[in-house]
Amino acid sequence: MANVVVVGAQWGDEGKGKIVDWLSNRADVVARFQGGHNAGHTLVVDGVTYKLSLMPSGVVQGKLSVIGNGVVVDPWAFIEEIEKVRAQGVNITSDLVKVAESATLILPVHRDLDALRENRDDGMKIGTTRRGIGPAYEDKVGRRAVRVIDLADEAALRARVQDLLHHHNALRRGYGQDEYQAEDLVQALLEIAPKILPYADPVWRTLDRAMKAGKHILFEGAQGTMLDVDHGTYPFVTSSNTVAGQASAGTGVGPGKVGYSLGIVKAYTTRVGEGPFPTELHDAMGQRLGERGHEFGVVTGRKRRCGWFDAVLVRQSVRVNGLDGIALTKLDVLDGFPELKVCVGYKLDGERLQRLPAGKEAQAKIEPIYEIMEGWEASTQGARSWADLPAAAVKYVRRIEELIEAPVAMLSTSPERDDVILMQDPFRP
Ligand code: IMP
Repeated sequence: MANVVVVGAQWGDEGKGKIVDWLSNRADVVARFQGGHNAGHTLVVDGVTYKLSLMPSGVVQGKLSVIGNGVVVDPWAFIEEIEKVRAQGVNITSDLVKVAESATLILPVHRDLDALRENRDDGMKIGTTRRGIGPAYEDKVGRRAVRVIDLADEAALRARVQDLLHHHNALRRGYGQDEYQAEDLVQALLEIAPKILPYADPVWRTLDRAMKAGKHILFEGAQGTMLDVDHGTYPFVTSSNTVAGQASAGTGVGPGKVGYSLGIVKAYTTRVGEGPFPTELHDAMGQRLGERGHEFGVVTGRKRRCGWFDAVLVRQSVRVNGLDGIALTKLDVLDGFPELKVCVGYKLDGERLQRLPAGKEAQAKIEPIYEIMEGWEASTQGARSWADLPAAAVKYVRRIEELIEAPVAMLSTSPERDDVILMQDPFRP
C-alpha cells in the first residue's frame, strides 16, 4: 500500500514515536492529523534522544513533515520546537515543514482556560496537559477560532481576535479573571506571524501532489483510541478524534487513500490523567511496570498509571480504527515477571461484558476478568527475530493476537530504532 496511518490503540504513550520513526525511513512524507503539542514523542536515533511534541516524527530524518488542518497549533510552541530541534543539528526549513493554512491556533486564552478548569475543585478534573488543546478545539467547532491563514491579513486578524475575545472575556469574567485586551493579543500575533507564515501551506494540495507523484505518506496519530472524543472514555478524553479515520479529514486526503492502518499497542497498559482504567494495578506489580517501563510523561513529566494488558479494550480499538495490524511495544518490560494477567472480559453488575460500556459510571464500575499466563525469565530486550524470544513470550504475543483479532505486524523490543521483529511491512503488506 502506498500510505500508512499509525494510531495509538490504548491511552497514548504506546511507543508510537519509535515505530513512526522506523516507518518514516520507508515514507516520503509524514503528516500529523490531530492533537497538538499535548503529544510527546520520544525518538532515539543513533544514540541521540529527540523529544517532539508538535513536529511530525519524520522531521528528524529530513522527510517532508506536514501538520494537517486537524491539528491545533500553538504558534509560540511551534517556533520553540523548531529552534530546539535545529539546535540538535536537524536542518529545518520551510521546504521541509508545512503547516495547514486552515489549522486552528492555540492562544494564551486557551491555555488559561484549560488551567482554570483544571484547577477547580468540583471533581471534574480531566488531568489535561494544560496546553489549551480542548479550549482551542471548542473555538474551532464554535466557528470563532483564529487560524494560521488569518496571520497573513492584519485587518482580518484583528476582527477574528475581537470576535474570539468577545466569547472568552465573558468566560473570564465568570471565572473572576481580568479581561484580555484584543490589541495586546493582535500585536503578539503580528510579531510571531512572519515566523509562522513561511511554513503555511494548502497541505491537502501538497499531499495530493505527493500521492500523484507516487510518494508514500505516513499519517502520524497522537494520543490513543481510548482518548478519542467519540470512542474513548468520555469525558476523560482529549478533544480530537484520534482514530485512523481522522487521518483523512485532518489532512484533506480521501478516506480510500489512507491505506494500511497500524495500531500501536503496549504489551501492558498505561494511562496519564484521570479516568477509568479497569486493569490498573495499585500494588508493587504496577510500581514495577512503571519503573521498568520508565513510565513518565514526555510533555508533563507526570507518572503514568500502569496495569495489565486489556485485550477487550484493544479489540475494540482494532474495530473502531479498522486496524490491519498492530505494532506491539515494550514486551521487554515484562521480562522476569513470574506470571502475567490479561484481561479477557469485564464484569458489570453480575453480567459479563465483551466490550467497554459507553457510560462514564459503568466504565468506572466494571471489573476485569483475567486469564493468567506464564511469564518468562530470559531477556527479550533487543531481540530481532522470533528465535531470540523465550517460548512463553511467543505464547503471550500469539494469545494477544488471538484475543484482539488482529495480527502483530511488528514487535518492538527496545527503544533503539532497529530492535524490531518484522512480520509484515505495512508499506508492503
Ligand atoms: P488534553 O489533550 O491536554 O486536553 O488532555 C486530555 C487527556 O488526554 C488527559 O488525560 C491527558 O493526560 C491525555 N493526553 C493528552 N495527550 C496525551 C499524550 O500524548 N499521551 C497520553 N495522554 C495524553
